[in-house]
Parts: sequence; C-alpha cells; structure tokens
Amino acid sequence: MVRSDDLLEILADGKFHSGEQLGAQMGIGRSAVWKHVRALAQRGIEIHAVSGKGYRLAEPLELLDEGRLRRAMAPPTRRAIPVLEIHRQTASTNQWLLEKAVAGLESGHVCLAESQWAGRGRRGRAWHSPYGRNLYCSIAWRFMEAPASFSALGLAVGVGLVRAMRSLGLPGVQLKWPNDVRWQGRKLAGILVEISGESHGPCGAVIGVGINVHMPAAASAAIDQPWVDMAAALGSGVSRNEVCARVLDHLVAVLQVFQREGFAPFMEEWQVLDVLRGKAVVLEIAGRCVHGVSQGIDGQGALLIRHEEGTKRYMAGDVSLREAHDAPG
Ligand code: BTN
Repeated sequence: MVRSDDLLEILADGKFHSGEQLGAQMGIGRSAVWKHVRALAQRGIEIHAVSGKGYRLAEPLELLDEGRLRRAMAPPTRRAIPVLEIHRQTASTNQWLLEKAVAGLESGHVCLAESQWAGRGRRGRAWHSPYGRNLYCSIAWRFMEAPASFSALGLAVGVGLVRAMRSLGLPGVQLKWPNDVRWQGRKLAGILVEISGESHGPCGAVIGVGINVHMPAAASAAIDQPWVDMAAALGSGVSRNEVCARVLDHLVAVLQVFQREGFAPFMEEWQVLDVLRGKAVVLEIAGRCVHGVSQGIDGQGALLIRHEEGTKRYMAGDVSLREAHDAPG
C-alpha cells in the first residue's frame, strides 16, 4: 500500500484536513504526514498548506468508484463486464491484463488505474499518467475466430471513442490514423491494442484507452505533442466516472459488433472522421520518410498513400504518420 495515496484519498474532497487529524486517520505522526505531502508535491500534485487549517488539494479529485461506474453503465455493458478492477497505481493497465491473460481472462475484464508509472503509448512511447485526473482503461476481449479485418480493431475502437465523446456533449472529435483521437488538431486520447495469441483463430486482445480528462497544468512539460483535455474542450468540468461509463458503453458495443462483423460496419464512419484524408502527409517507416497524399484507409485498416508511382498501402506497426509540419503522434 502506498501511504501517499492514502493521504490523497482523504484529501480528494478538496477540504482542509489538519495534520493531526490526518495523522490519526493514517496511524502515523504529523512529521510523517508532512513527508507524504512532500511526496505528493513531487508527483506534481498541488497541495495548499495553511497554518491553523492544515492541508487541502488545490483542486478536489473525483476518484473512480466501482459502484458508481456500474450504476452509470447501460445494462448490456454491465452484463458484458464480469470483472472491473480499479487500481490506485499500476505500471500499465494493458500490462496488467496481458500478464493475467496467460492464466486466461474472461472477455470484458476491465482494468482501470488512477495512475500508471509505466503507461505505454504506441511505438514504445511513454503515456504520461498523473494520478486521479485522466482515464487509463484497458479491457480484455477474446475472439473465438479473429475476423479477417482484425488488424483494424484499433480503428473501430477509435469510432467507439468518438461516439462516447459525442454522447458526453463533445462534438468535433476526429481520428488520425491509426489510433489518435483528436480535437481541433490536438490529441485528446490514444488507443493501444496489444494481442496475445494468433491473429487467426482464437486470440485475445487487450484494448487500452488513455483519455485526457483533466490534465494538471504541471504535466504539460512532460508531453511532447499538442494535446487537449475534455475539460478544456467542453469548457466545463466533467465527471471521470461518467466519462468512464460512457466510454465502456461504446467500447463494449463496438467490440460486440466487431467480433461478429469485423471492421466493415465502421469503415464509412471512420472515413468521415479521418483528419488526414486528401491531405499531404509524411509517413515515417523503418527510418525513412514517405511523402504523398493520404487516400484514407482500406478494409484492413491500412493507410493508403498516393505517390508519384501510384497508391501504396501501409499497415499499422512500426510506422508513424506525420501531418506536414506537425509533431508525431
Ligand atoms: C498512444 O500512443 O496514443 C496510445 C496511448 C494508450 C494509453 C493507454 S492508458 C491505458 C492503457 N495502458 C497503457 O499502458 N496504455 C494504454
């Protein structure tokens, strides 16, 4: 158990708590309380210390709550999720499920975390995961027979996230191949699909979703590309439990359709949401840059780029895409 997280949970209400009261609740002395306050500050969590009043968070936190989440989910989602675990901290929610998958995981097993210390992004990048502010969510899904368009699973998940954002009152969210969710040119969310097993026949997928909900300002320096969070895009506060419930509703619905019908039912919607279609793009692949015009995607989710020699297809994997004059994403 991480003591500074115990402290954070008590302070989550945003009210003042005296050092004495905190010490009594945690079974430690006041100087130990102060040590944990400093540890939190080092993690970028802003705490006000006022003599005579005690400590309080600069802004209250809404922690994830299983009961609240389950009540907020649509009944079919609730039925499709046999296990929903919430960790205060873990290395990576994807990693957690992948490790468990060895012993067999039920479809719909969800792992959420308040923070990740080794959050994973695409292509070996880190996913910055500060405590209690954003959403770090992974879901395991078993496919008895992987659809022929299995490689497009992440793209279908992107459509699900856009639908979830719309249901939360946020229009104008778009997709950037392969797995970026963007709002006004800035990254709002990312998707990381990791597979265990064969891509044909029975296999398991871990679908990880990271959504910027209310990124602390102090985190900016650690992020190397333009980003936005839901609070800024909506221009108002937003409930993390509500966001999580809607995301799971749409994610489960997409996975259920995808396992029966593959990517085809999502293809048209994806093309409409495509940020890059018809634009000049630069694709980085295996250490070289390919210049051309994006022609959208094919039924397997491959990116189509028109060059002087004709149109070529590029699969997800060790490729990254750059909009001309844009940062990698
Ligand atoms: C990207 O690079 O855009 C993908 C980011 C995916 C981040 C999520 S957060 C939950 C899950 N656990 C991880 O370690 N990564 C994914």
